[in-house]
Amino acid sequence: MPEPARSGPETALPGPAASDPAALAHIHAACFTTTPRPWPEAEIAGLLRLPHVFLLSQPAGFLLGQAIAGEAEILTLAVAPEARRQGLARRLVADFLTSARARGAEQAFLEVSAENPAAIALYLATGFTRAGLRRGYYESDSGAKIDALVMSRTLMPGA
Ligand SMILES: CC(C)(COP(=O)(O)OP(=O)(O)OC[C@H]1O[C@@H](n2cnc3c(N)ncnc32)[C@H](O)[C@@H]1OP(=O)(O)O)[C@@H](O)C(=O)NCCC(=O)NCCS
Repeated sequence: MPEPARSGPETALPGPAASDPAALAHIHAACFTTTPRPWPEAEIAGLLRLPHVFLLSQPAGFLLGQAIAGEAEILTLAVAPEARRQGLARRLVADFLTSARARGAEQAFLEVSAENPAAIALYLATGFTRAGLRRGYYESDSGAKIDALVMSRTLMPGA
């Protein structure tokens, strides 16, 4: 049985809804291969059932975030290849920051492959800075270990 769409500002956006995890999984599969791997529909649906997880979506992209105990995290962010460099991800991250603040978070975190310059540029452009390194966190198709950067930014007023 499909989940009902959630209330709140997220659902005002025109992309796939929380009730359509298949559409979200389709976009995710177009964006990720191994670092990290694509998330199946059931996994996305399971995350969306958690009360602290929220969805922000655009027609060809989405962001899953969570906010709990004063901290927010970008769990995943995906924009379909044909829709890139049009500002969708920048808008999704801005909406994530707004939603995270509204949910009481004071600090935001994410992790990103050290070999993903596009995403790192995006996060630097949206106010995140490097906070740590997780060595060998991801594994490529060939079995090579890839580091993850941990990035963070404050959500406090005026920041
Ligand atoms: C990373 C990703 C989300 C960016 O989405 P996007 O909608 O194309 O990004 P935007 O158009 O909003 O770009 C915003 C800024 O990010 C940076 N950026 C985005 N793509 C970039 C690229 N390919 N190279 C360099 N910088 C890039 C730029 O600073 C850009 O601003 P500009 O266009 O004014 O120069 C998208 O490429 C993607 O889905 N990649 C695969 C999945 C992934 O890596 N997800 C994030 C890690 S979890």
